[in-house]
Amino acid sequence: MDALANINGEMVPLAQAKISALDRGFLFGDAVYEVLRVYEGKPWLMAEHFLRLMHSLGEIRIRGIDLERLKERMFATIAAGPFREATVYIQITRGAAPRKHAFPAGATPLEFLSVQEFVDPYAAQRKTGAKVITQPDIRWDRCDIKSTNLLGNVLAMQAAVEAGCVEALLVLPDGTLTEGTHTSFFGVMDGALLTTPQSNAILPGITRGLIARLANRARLPLREQSLTQRDLPRVSELFLTGTTSEVLPIVTVDGKHIGDGKPGPLTRRLQEAYAEEIREFVRKD
Ligand code: PDD
Repeated sequence: MDALANINGEMVPLAQAKISALDRGFLFGDAVYEVLRVYEGKPWLMAEHFLRLMHSLGEIRIRGIDLERLKERMFATIAAGPFREATVYIQITRGAAPRKHAFPAGATPLEFLSVQEFVDPYAAQRKTGAKVITQPDIRWDRCDIKSTNLLGNVLAMQAAVEAGCVEALLVLPDGTLTEGTHTSFFGVMDGALLTTPQSNAILPGITRGLIARLANRARLPLREQSLTQRDLPRVSELFLTGTTSEVLPIVTVDGKHIGDGKPGPLTRRLQEAYAEEIREFVRKD
């Protein structure tokens, strides 16, 4: 059985899903999205993802989306498909209208979602650690909005792939590291866990938020403080967080080892705490 899509409430095989060439998501990237992970048939951290979707919709002024109805469609589409381990992709666009930049009068937003099988590409690297490169952060000023305008992310990620790396960490002109192309990150410096302060420069990562709560619960010293490229020689541990990467240790940046080049103890603790949260979530009904 194939992956399923749901377009404005109508379920179709994803491979046959069709959207207007006048859709503003296609023409302008005038759209926002979410990616959720499904564990054993259940969408993980759903309330947080829907809250962030509401924020993104509000910031780009797409009104009138019934998020409860969207949730029901998501549950129905997960249930109708064959996948227990999956990702849900949700995209809301401003709808189809003749191509003019300003908001069109009377267009109905498009509510698209799909459920695809998740085959974990990171299983081995979660144990051994992975490599990243740095790339200039050439994105716009509202990275807190999860918009489908991802060209800056796409180009940086392609550079990472060409360098044999799992991700690119994005760097501002002053050397500040912001986030990955599709992940957040934490570092350990002088014994403290550091993560980029929330601002318009980064997406408020849902996994990042949970990791911060787990770190606080475990009484690990955690600060919202940016790391710079110059800090990297003093950073003893580094890890990515994200919906599909979960907690992924990083042992090399631009060809140089972080710490002793192995996943560190705080990373391990938080990986274990995150895995335990998922186990509990899956057990509960
Ligand atoms: N990416 N930063 C950026 C720029 C992202 O696109 C993402 C998520 C994250 C991590 O956020 P979360 O923990 O909520 O997944 C950080 C999704 C998975 C994607 O674009 O596929």
